[in-house]
Amino acid sequence: MKQAKIILDRDYRISRIDERIYGSFIEHLGRAVYGGIYEPGHPLADELGFRTDVMEAVKKLGVPLVRYPGGNFVSGFRWEDSVGPVEERPKRLDLAWFTTETNEVGLHEFARWAEKAGSRIMYAVNLGTRGPEQARDIVEYANHPGNSRLSDLRIQNGRKDPLGIKLWCLGNEMDGPWQMGQKTAYEYGRIANESAKMMKWVDPSIELVACGSSSSEMPTFGDWELTMLNECYENIDYVSLHRYYANPTGDTAGFLARTMDMDDFIKSVVSICDAVKGKKHSKKQVNLSFDEWNVWYHSREQDEEIWKREKWDRALPLLEDIYNFEDALLVGSMLITLLRNCDRVKIACLAQLVNVIAPIMTRNGGGCWAQTIYYPFMHASRYGRGTALRAIVDSPVYDCADYEGVPTVDAVATQADDGSLTVFCVNRDLTDPCALELDLRSFGRIEMKEHIVLHHDDVHAVNTEENPNEVVPAALPVTPSDGGRPQVLLPPLSWNVLRFA
Ligand code: AHR
Repeated sequence: MKQAKIILDRDYRISRIDERIYGSFIEHLGRAVYGGIYEPGHPLADELGFRTDVMEAVKKLGVPLVRYPGGNFVSGFRWEDSVGPVEERPKRLDLAWFTTETNEVGLHEFARWAEKAGSRIMYAVNLGTRGPEQARDIVEYANHPGNSRLSDLRIQNGRKDPLGIKLWCLGNEMDGPWQMGQKTAYEYGRIANESAKMMKWVDPSIELVACGSSSSEMPTFGDWELTMLNECYENIDYVSLHRYYANPTGDTAGFLARTMDMDDFIKSVVSICDAVKGKKHSKKQVNLSFDEWNVWYHSREQDEEIWKREKWDRALPLLEDIYNFEDALLVGSMLITLLRNCDRVKIACLAQLVNVIAPIMTRNGGGCWAQTIYYPFMHASRYGRGTALRAIVDSPVYDCADYEGVPTVDAVATQADDGSLTVFCVNRDLTDPCALELDLRSFGRIEMKEHIVLHHDDVHAVNTEENPNEVVPAALPVTPSDGGRPQVLLPPLSWNVLRFA
């Protein structure tokens, strides 16, 4: 039997967890909005046209922050198109996703949806085809109380109180050639700095996220962060990181080790932020916003086919990845990685939320169901609040194509404000269970209350509308702990939530 040990101490704290680490993302892309959160003709639609079944699934997930309206979409977006009488809003060609955007759902409608969902908005401004002027205008429209042209326009459009959007993205993936208005790091750093200054002059209470690299695989990664931060460090608050993983070759062990790369990525960006801080003799600390992360690859060929057939239609079914069991395990490990780095990662957005590379799926006119990846996110968001604790993990290791010494057991712990403790762990072993001993002696009297597990014998198992419960969590029996040293058995290839009171 393989064995592992986790030592936890209530005083080995990583950091308080910013709840915004459980953010997600809704872009005007595919069926995320139209046919996802919004479907006026659906039998379960509310008076505003929002699907109440989707709303329930979102609430159960616990998403305190939603990034909006893009993504690549935002780099060609004119925010003015999305406000005012719906029937007067223009239809536009969206060059990011070769779709027609009707603007039926705009800023006011989305703000209503977010309020109902219990989420705050993280709003991205267009720094691709537009610049500082339009960026400061939307802050005035959304946040200024009144008695100015744009705040009065908001009031005229039906919203007396400011929307109070506190978190803003300065563009999206501006390093990428696929982006409308791609920039060099210097060009971006300058425009981000000028936009940031003006946006904060309108509303000094806002926080701003500057675009980091769109992936650690970009040839400009590192240099991009250094150059752009050199221009805008003092006026921004966070740097964004984006990362998606794939398993096109069916190498499960290698796929599950990809969080080693995610961890390196985070640590590299932290180092660059701190290097710029040092160089500038600054007192300010810039933190990280991992505002796009997930698995993404299943739908890529399908999307090419869709574009061959139906380019420019409304709400094309794009990026509809069907997630399998191993994807849920990697998502679990990605959550563990974010929590382990929560001293610097203050914001993170699972990309995305509904239909588009999403934990929640819908059929137009039909049902709504949870994909495999829904469950680790729901567990982490529900139980992973409070303070993250450093887990000292003594685990067997394995080697794979890209990494040596990958720990078989990946873990982090969190302590809620009521003192209860949760350990999240993934057993990456393909075939063997692992006998895990937890050394919790510093917690005094502690009782294990629950062992929730997500496991399936087939890594390719998926949930569908017809069979939504193929991959769902189960409770394992809990044995009484022995003097602060509980023992649990982690099934091979499993996501585990161990809860102690
Ligand atoms: O989340 C899907 C897309 O991935 C986003 O629009 C873009 O920012 C990233 O490339």
